[in-house]
Amino acid sequence: MTIKHNISLKPYNTFGIDVNAKNFISITSLDDLKTVLQLPDYPEKFIIGGGSNMLLTQNIDALTIHINLRGKEIVKQTNDTVLVKIAAGENWHQFVLWAIDNDFGGVENLSLIPGNVGTSPVQNIGAYGVELKDVFYNCSVLEIATGNESTFSLDACNFGYRNSVFKNAAKNKYIITSVTFKLTTKNHSLNTSYGAIEQELKQNNINNPSLKDVSNAVISIRQSKLPNPKEIGNSGSFFKNPVISIEEFHLLQQKYPNIPSYTVSDSEIKIPAGWLIEQVGFKGKRFGDAGVHKNQALVLVNYGNASGQEILDLAYHIIEKVKETFNIEISPEVNIL
Ligand code: EPU
Repeated sequence: MTIKHNISLKPYNTFGIDVNAKNFISITSLDDLKTVLQLPDYPEKFIIGGGSNMLLTQNIDALTIHINLRGKEIVKQTNDTVLVKIAAGENWHQFVLWAIDNDFGGVENLSLIPGNVGTSPVQNIGAYGVELKDVFYNCSVLEIATGNESTFSLDACNFGYRNSVFKNAAKNKYIITSVTFKLTTKNHSLNTSYGAIEQELKQNNINNPSLKDVSNAVISIRQSKLPNPKEIGNSGSFFKNPVISIEEFHLLQQKYPNIPSYTVSDSEIKIPAGWLIEQVGFKGKRFGDAGVHKNQALVLVNYGNASGQEILDLAYHIIEKVKETFNIEISPEVNIL
């Protein structure tokens, strides 16, 4: 267990932003993590997992703790469900593939989401009609201030759309060390109602899809729309889809009859931010090495050497234009640091 100094965080964040960590340690055991939390020389801590949902805009003076805890464990198996406990440092997509190989159902729609298991509850990752909360059982945490271990139940996590207690009351207070999921072992309830999945399965003449078929459909859709962070730095959706009132929506619809929407409740409608951004002309635009992806305007990209500030400036510029045109305030879903 050694603390390294002046380490570039470029390989540790999927945006590929080159900021410096003054002090850096990669942690592979719970005991080491507890020890590190007690080190008197480093009162400030900065926790990094898969680095897939953050935009780094400055060098980090705090002790950067890279969570590299590994392990997958079957905790309990009943007639048709299984509880699996996955260490925080496991790659999310590798976990999904492992679940499918074992014929455990529930996470196949969440295939190919970048990042690690430990950060998946923070923003309640979601795609193609499934959210993390649908398969979440509980998560184990360490309190940063004390090193005390505890567990957050589904209720305690207070999950919402791209939101949880870890973005609110519990923000920066805990390190998630593992997540336990409740998956199905038979009678899987596949969620293929999302238009793009239905089309993809139809195209491949699949009428009775397996977990693997659904996963492959999702992988193929994501690959056609979303840039691979290994090739072009990005953080998936940079913005959340804004929620507006029905009244506001009807006014917009008069002006823009083709405006896409999802119903949230009797009084609220969600608008795809990607559509709003495309309408104001940013889709595929590039400013130096910062840009807006050509196939999905919700995704900001780093073509190589953009700084976090350059990406952030572009984000502000987009927010302003969307506000000016639609009077809708879109906001980032990634953490800006
Ligand atoms: N659209 C455009 N132009 C664009 C992008 C989208 O007009 O450039 C419109 C289209 O009308 C499209 C609609 O937006 O039909 C919805 O697009 P899409 O199905 O790609 O979904 P999204 O609302 O843009 C959300 C999630 C994605 C997730 C997809 C699929 C958020 C912020 N994003 O995107 O999540 O993969 O649904 O479920 O909710 C992520 O969080 O990193 C992410 C990729």
